[in-house]
Amino acid sequence: MFEEIVQTGGQIEPSDWMPDKYRASLSRQIAQHAHSEIIGMQPEGAWITRAPSLRRKAILLAKVQDEAGHGLYLYGAAETLGTDRAEMLEGLHSGRHKYAMSFDYGMPTWGDVAAMGWLGDGAAIVNQVPLARCSYGPYARAMVRVCKEESFHQRQGFEAMQALVAGTPQQRQMAQDALDRWWWPALMLFGPPDDASPRTADSMRWGIKRYTNDELRQRFVDMAAAQADVLGLTIPDPALRLREDGHCDFTLMDLEEFTANLRGEGPYATQRRDHRRAAHQDGAWVREAMQAYDDRVVAAREAS
Ligand code: 3HC
Repeated sequence: MFEEIVQTGGQIEPSDWMPDKYRASLSRQIAQHAHSEIIGMQPEGAWITRAPSLRRKAILLAKVQDEAGHGLYLYGAAETLGTDRAEMLEGLHSGRHKYAMSFDYGMPTWGDVAAMGWLGDGAAIVNQVPLARCSYGPYARAMVRVCKEESFHQRQGFEAMQALVAGTPQQRQMAQDALDRWWWPALMLFGPPDDASPRTADSMRWGIKRYTNDELRQRFVDMAAAQADVLGLTIPDPALRLREDGHCDFTLMDLEEFTANLRGEGPYATQRRDHRRAAHQDGAWVREAMQAYDDRVVAAREAS
């Protein structure tokens, strides 16, 4: 019955029977996805106090807050599989769990915030829209809302890039430099190439993934190449070329760099996890206070 449901595009709900491997693989992917959302808040959050105008500051504040919300929906979705939230966070803090390596790169200028929104969130939408049709109900439903918000994030990034390219020569250069830095990390968001992706075959069979890593990366490159033309910027790939069939030829990211990042050796990897652990520790009193409040409410309810 499980096979029939997933192969006919139906959805599995938390109370349905599912193979242990399906449960484990989904728990892994959803937890990694949740971690990526909250780790992604760090490089962008660092720009809130330095945004170039009040309008940009308000938008960035809302965006970073949205990412926290995405983390919450996703941790919630993973919990429906029986995964404990404290255990997931321990996996993140200890380095046992992965998160999207693109956030292990730095954001030295405002241009990076714009490019990250345009390309990073653009890549996230291409990857996540099909996940809204994935075979696990709670994950698919979380993705519907996440994608609506990511779509707003991508547009704000593109609009911030448009403002930079319409500005002074220095601002235009800032946009180009940021595109040069963010192009390769954006390609990395889609994962390893299909022939080096150990999880894809099972995920496709189970309807978790609807498209392979390479199929989605191609879709993203086709879309981003057209958008770079609108901005009048150059994608830092000399091999990028629009073919007659409407798709682009392009170069894959450097696989040695990708593999090193997977091992947790990205430029800001240590800083990201250290910061996350410190934030968790600093928030301990909030969790204790909430627990004390909950305990009091339960005790009062029982007493009455
Ligand atoms: N960064 C870190 N780890 C990655 C990775 C990346 N960019 N790409 C792949 N990996 C990991 C996989 O998680 C997997 O880990 P494992 O060793 O624990 O199994 C391993 O490398 C092998 O990769 P596979 O391709 O075989 O794994 P998957 O089938 O899971 O595919 C994926 C990888 C395409 C990232 C898939 O897990 C996925 O679609 N995940 C959900 C989306 C997601 O997590 N996106 C992260 C972006 S967060 C975001 O969008 C925030 C926004 O604001 C920008």
